[in-house]
This record gives sequence, C-alpha cells and structure tokens, in this order.
Amino acid sequence: MTEKLNSVIMKLCKRLHLILMLIPLEPIVISDLLHASPTLDEPRIEVNSLGKRYGDLQVFKDINLTFREREIVTIVGPSGCGKTTLLRCIDGLMPSSEGEIRIDSDVVRKPREGVSMVFQHFGLFPWKTVYQNVAYGLKLAGVRKTVIADKVPYYTKLVGLEGFENSYPYQLSGGMQQRCGLALEPSVLLMDEPFAAVDAQTREILQFELLRIWGMRPMTMIFVTHSIEEAVLMGDRVVVLKGRPSSVFEVIDVKLPGPRSRETLAHPRFSEVREHVWSTLMDEVRAAEFEIER
Ligand SMILES: Nc1ncnc2c1ncn2[C@@H]1O[C@H](COP(=O)(O)OP(=O)(O)OP(=O)(O)O)[C@@H](O)[C@H]1O
Ligand SMILES: [Mg+2]
Repeated sequence: MTEKLNSVIMKLCKRLHLILMLIPLEPIVISDLLHASPTLDEPRIEVNSLGKRYGDLQVFKDINLTFREREIVTIVGPSGCGKTTLLRCIDGLMPSSEGEIRIDSDVVRKPREGVSMVFQHFGLFPWKTVYQNVAYGLKLAGVRKTVIADKVPYYTKLVGLEGFENSYPYQLSGGMQQRCGLALEPSVLLMDEPFAAVDAQTREILQFELLRIWGMRPMTMIFVTHSIEEAVLMGDRVVVLKGRPSSVFEVIDVKLPGPRSRETLAHPRFSEVREHVWSTLMDEVRAAEFEIER
C-alpha cells in the first residue's frame, strides 16, 4: 500500500517537474542565479489602483502591487475577498472595474502569451473533452491556431493523459484534471490554490518539488492559498488582503533563508511570520465564520 502510494507520488512529482521544466525562459547561468537577488529584479507585473465590482458588489478596491521577474508572491485573505478574481484580472480573463494592470509595461486587456493560470477547480470546461480543454488553454496562452493541433497531443502525453483525449473532466480523477489544467507553457504562473485538492502528505511533497524546480527556473509566480503555512513557506513575500471591499492590508517580506526545505518549517522566522499573518487574519476569519454560522 505504502509502495503504491510512493510510486503515485513519484509519478506526480515527475510530471510536475516535466511540466515546469517546459517554462520558456531565458537560459539561466548558474553563477547569475547564485549572485542575483530576486529582490533586485525589475517589476514584471504592476497592479495600479485596481478595483473590481460585480454589479453592486465591490469585491476589492485600490489594490497596488508589483510582482518582480523572479519571485514567488503568495496571497492570503478570507474566503470571498477576491483572490481568484484578482488572478483572473491579472490573467486578462476578466476586465477590472477601476485601475489597470501592466505586464512588461503593456496594459492587460486580454489573455496574453506566457501568462498561465492553474485554477482552484482546475479551470476545465465540463462540456469540453481533455483534447478540447488543452487546445483552448493553448489558444488562451496565445499559441497560433495553425500549430495548436500539432501541440495538443504533445502536451496531453507530457502530462500523462495520453489515451484520455476524448474523456470529459467528470470522467477523470482530481489529479488527472489538475494535470490537464497544467498543460500550458507559462512564464508567469498564476496559481489558485493548486494543492488544495490533494492530501496533506502529497501536498508537502509537491510544495518542495515546486520550490526546487522554481529554484532552477525562476519566474514570476503568484500563488493564492488558504493555508498560512503554505503562504509563508512558498512566498518571498506574502500579500494579506483584508476588509470589505478588500484591499492590501500588508505585504510581508518573508526573508527566510533559501533554498526552502523541511528545515524551514522549524526556523524561528517561519513561526514569527506565520503567527503575524495568523493574528492579522484572525478577526476576519472569525467574522466570516460567524457569518456562515448565522
Ligand atoms: N462571476 C461572478 N459574478 C458575480 N459575483 C462573483 C463572481 N465571481 C465571484 N463573485 C463574488 O465575488 C466575491 C469574490 O469572489 P472570489 O472567488 O474572487 O473570492 P476568493 O477570495 O477567491 O474566495 P475563495 O477563498 O473562497 O476562493 C465573492 O463574494 C463571490 O461571490
Ligand atoms: Mg478563490
């Protein structure tokens, strides 16, 4: 049983590794990596005075953030504060109501090449097959129509879904659905609770695997999570959203030594930041729970 579990986890890690190794970035010279401080990198994404309304509901307002070329920024905030909405605005899938987002200085008005989103619920259209979902993802990622048909089988095979091209999402396991959602070529990776659906042990393995791969091919990664531990472990900076409508309450520079590993979890700075984020969010979480109970 344990052997079987280990082999499943190893397979999952290998696939995650393969997928992320595909991320097309400038070749990285190891000596550059050793000397480059991510904090010195130029801003890649700028979010300026961003606000979003759904009809009468003002979800967030006046959000100002910058994301650098090589950093992982994690975002935490109470359920419903607009984390997914913010990622969709950055992705260009959804227009904002106020303000603007710039990626590489260009205002985002539609999905752009190289910016990929891993959705909370895998982002698969239930009425599309695996083939059609991957093709649509490639289209959103800006891949030319004429080459999509050639690329789909390659990506489907790469993420281990060969033979499932004609299956619909409901016919796939959760892990398979997520792999299908990952079959894109990102240079900016927007992750919406990517590990929420896996068990605790697999989650921990995938967190470290993702960090290790990121260390080899750093990129701009914005990572939304409900887990404060995950936010502190994965993030160079942690953004705390709070309030109704929400806005950025705090951006915490995590300043934990890298590379992050299991030992990081025992580092005094880890507990310090975790407790800080926890107490910051406590009131909001309590208020949200109270509302659910009512
Ligand atoms: N398409 C939509 N139309 C109308 N309201 C929406 C839409 N999408 C989201 N909302 C509302 O906007 C608010 C923010 O939703 P969003 O999904 O961005 O929050 P979230 O922070 O990602 O929540 P969670 O932590 O539960 O994933 C919620 O109140 C939600 O009900
Ligand atoms: Mg969400």
